[in-house]
Amino acid sequence: LSSFPSYIDLLPSIQTCNITNLPENYFLKYYLYHALTWPQLSFVAVVRPKNGYKSGGSGPGMAGDISGEYPKVVGYVLAKMEEEPADGLQHGHITSLSVMRTHRRLGIAERLMRMSQRAMAESHRANYVSLHVRMSNTAALRLYRDTLGFEVEKVESKYYADGEDAYAMRLDLQKQW
Ligand code: ACO
Repeated sequence: LSSFPSYIDLLPSIQTCNITNLPENYFLKYYLYHALTWPQLSFVAVVRPKNGYKSGGSGPGMAGDISGEYPKVVGYVLAKMEEEPADGLQHGHITSLSVMRTHRRLGIAERLMRMSQRAMAESHRANYVSLHVRMSNTAALRLYRDTLGFEVEKVESKYYADGEDAYAMRLDLQKQW
């Protein structure tokens, strides 16, 4: 797992991971905007190529010198700070999170989320973190509510393009760090 700045080259692969796993997709420039504006908040999970890197490398899941073959992206969390918070409270927002099917139930999403949450609190003094999730997305709901401790703030009717409602969820970060 590593933060985005060392992974600008991987943004197209992160975008591919998103397209593979979720119907909510974004232009490449939106990933770049996140990486350049809030470089501490987004993280990517990679696996090493079979033959390793040509040189360097700094431990499991971390990219050191990626001058050789590129690592394969198996998960990411794309996160930001809310730029004009309606409630006036500085807070973070999870734009998107996904893990490739081949690498699920290994704790990757939980780790990505905790790293981002911590960075929001430490780097940006975020009071809380918010996100939206489909009401039918039981896996993500379990992760957010049961594993990470998010609470449902409200239901946003027809939030998604296909008409599905979203839970708007949030987690207080002040109690954690
Ligand atoms: N069913 C039930 N609970 C689950 C499931 C599942 N399929 N997946 C995760 N959980 C819960 C469990 O409590 C799990 O702990 P456990 O394995 O000890 O029981 C806990 O979440 C942590 O699981 P992780 O292994 O960290 O989760 P994973 O890396 O598999 O990723 C994710 C979970 C991101 C939801 C993955 O299934 C995925 O990519 N789904 C498709 C994309 C998606 O729905 N993304 C979230 C959209 S909302 C947003 O982007 C803001």
